[in-house]
Amino acid sequence: MNSEEMARLKKLLSGGISPLHPIVIRRASNAVIEDVRGNRYIDFTSGIGVTNLGHANPELVAVAREQLERLWHMAIPVAGYEPILNLAESLSRISPGSYNKKTAFFNSGAEAVENAVKAVRKATKRQTIIAFENSFHGRTSLTMALTGKYKPYKQDFEPFAPGVELVPYPYCYRCPFGHDYPPCCMQTVEYLRKHFVHTRVPGEKIAAAIAEPIQGEGGFIVPPDGFFKELKSFLDEYGAKLIVDEIQTGFGRTGKMFAIEHFGVEPDIMTVGKAIANGLPLSGIVGRAEILDSIHAGGYGGTYVGNAVACAVAAKVIEIFERDRIPERAAVLGSMAERRLREMFEEYPLIGDVRGKGLMLAVELVTDRRSKKPAEEAARKTVEKARDRGLLLLKAGLHNNVVRLHPPITIDDETFSKGLDILEDSIREVSREET
Ligand SMILES: Cc1ncc(COP(=O)(O)O)c(C=O)c1O
Repeated sequence: MNSEEMARLKKLLSGGISPLHPIVIRRASNAVIEDVRGNRYIDFTSGIGVTNLGHANPELVAVAREQLERLWHMAIPVAGYEPILNLAESLSRISPGSYNKKTAFFNSGAEAVENAVKAVRKATKRQTIIAFENSFHGRTSLTMALTGKYKPYKQDFEPFAPGVELVPYPYCYRCPFGHDYPPCCMQTVEYLRKHFVHTRVPGEKIAAAIAEPIQGEGGFIVPPDGFFKELKSFLDEYGAKLIVDEIQTGFGRTGKMFAIEHFGVEPDIMTVGKAIANGLPLSGIVGRAEILDSIHAGGYGGTYVGNAVACAVAAKVIEIFERDRIPERAAVLGSMAERRLREMFEEYPLIGDVRGKGLMLAVELVTDRRSKKPAEEAARKTVEKARDRGLLLLKAGLHNNVVRLHPPITIDDETFSKGLDILEDSIREVSREET
């Protein structure tokens, strides 16, 4: 705990900004962070799934430095520059979809989501966007409306943007329809087919659905196999589009370059952000050329969108991902961690569910496995105890009772194992205290 520094932070920054960990960081290298007092922590957060190639990655630092010296800003509404073109080429090549693609770049994830929605509305001349409960798409006006969790993201920020319909997501551990898996998986799409289009919005008026392939802030919820295929076929029936929000799941996190590749579906538009530039502010959309080209000249833009340094770094990120087979490394580390988490599940009844894909793994803590009552306090304590032992974790989930792991994918085996040991020690201690 950096008390003095935290007091300064609280005095200076808006109360709306509230770091989970009461520390102030001075520097970081790959998966290890050092605070201003010289305490070191293993980073299982990657700054919320961003530094997938590690903090201060030397190759990326070199590219950023070179680009800084050459050209660090030119607003894209004024003139083109090479890094944005190189990145557009690479992103189009690696993103799912066998169709002709176009791209556009922005600053934040929320901005990418907003612009994906603008594109599908303009292209389809329809307004309604289906989004999912328990989702997170950002903190701007429209993305708050698309987000399916009230506290804290939407709390007291009404009114929300119109034209958005939230429907249940297949969260199998806590099926919103009260079913067990497998039937629950198709319940959402059944609901859309049998009820929604008759009671809420006719299919012909749906512009698109937006979904995270694996819900991130919602607690690393993996939808059942078949869900995305069913959803896509429902949308196709009505000529509606599928926007896949890969902002948290993209760039190797789940063991594939993009998580939607696990589900055998081609999105019409995909949003990217977070790890694309390993921490420099950059986001984008990539999708069907005819949808992105439906936007009139000047309909997209912004002073900083597609910053030259961020684009140069992002192009290098993609090069490293392909050269070093980073998604495969995520899959290997992920299966090692999943084995450990499943052993912990056998040992500690506090863990109600272990889930995720690749290096996007989480445990959902419950007071008991029958009632599945969320153990929010136990999650808070686990994160706190882990930090005291030198591991930074994050929480997630509707009930803030999910402890999630997303370390840099470049973490070495020894540091990773040490982090998992600390996690287990913390869960063991909290289990003892809770019983
Ligand atoms: C799936 C998803 N979409 C959108 C966002 C918003 O991104 P940003 O915080 O960069 O606006 C996030 C951020 O966590 C996210 O996880």
